[in-house]
Amino acid sequence: MISNQTKQVLASIPSAWGDGDCKGHIDVAQFIIDQIKPSVTVDLGVDYGYSLISLACNNPGIVFGIDCFEGDEWTGIRNTYQYVSEKINQLELNNVKLIKGYFDDVIKTWFLPIDILHIDGFHSYEAVKNDYEKWSPYVKRNGVIMFHDTNSHDTRFGVKWRVINNHCNIFTSFFIYFTRPQIF
Ligand SMILES: C[S@@+](CC[C@H](N)C(=O)[O-])C[C@H]1O[C@@H](n2cnc3c(N)ncnc32)[C@H](O)[C@@H]1O
Repeated sequence: MISNQTKQVLASIPSAWGDGDCKGHIDVAQFIIDQIKPSVTVDLGVDYGYSLISLACNNPGIVFGIDCFEGDEWTGIRNTYQYVSEKINQLELNNVKLIKGYFDDVIKTWFLPIDILHIDGFHSYEAVKNDYEKWSPYVKRNGVIMFHDTNSHDTRFGVKWRVINNHCNIFTSFFIYFTRPQIF
């Protein structure tokens, strides 16, 4: 159950996730959390924190939000670290740990087995493939990897469905379509 306060905070976030009917995103995140009861959740790509908050609410484990907090070509260049910290504090999400760094640097010292991995960093084929290949070995046998934007088919941005089709053969995979053509 997501509180009204959380819904208000999510609705206020200036994210691509929040500019329309975003209900589907949080519903899917909450459903998976309820099924998995994760100990460790990793959100690769925080930006303004929409996915991070969606994954942190009602999550019994620790949730790592990893981002360089510099933005990128698609999101725009911006440092959202302070903004996200304030939202996390406002919602008293004591299970969240923000890590400021590049995914490739953070993975060098990573050792925790992961229950839920959400991949939403830079949207080039090479970057998504790289994030998947470096981080997926830490996902537990019955863990879940979520990709955002798999139903986007823009020739440059819409790459995730191709990465899944070409490289994610060790996992059972399926697509969830809802609200708008943007999905995990
Ligand atoms: C699409 S946005 C994430 C959106 C976010 N999941 C949400 O719910 O709104 C991508 C984010 O990934 C970060 N990013 C891109 N490449 C990165 C990298 N190699 N290492 C760390 N952060 C990266 C950017 O700073 C940006 O904030």
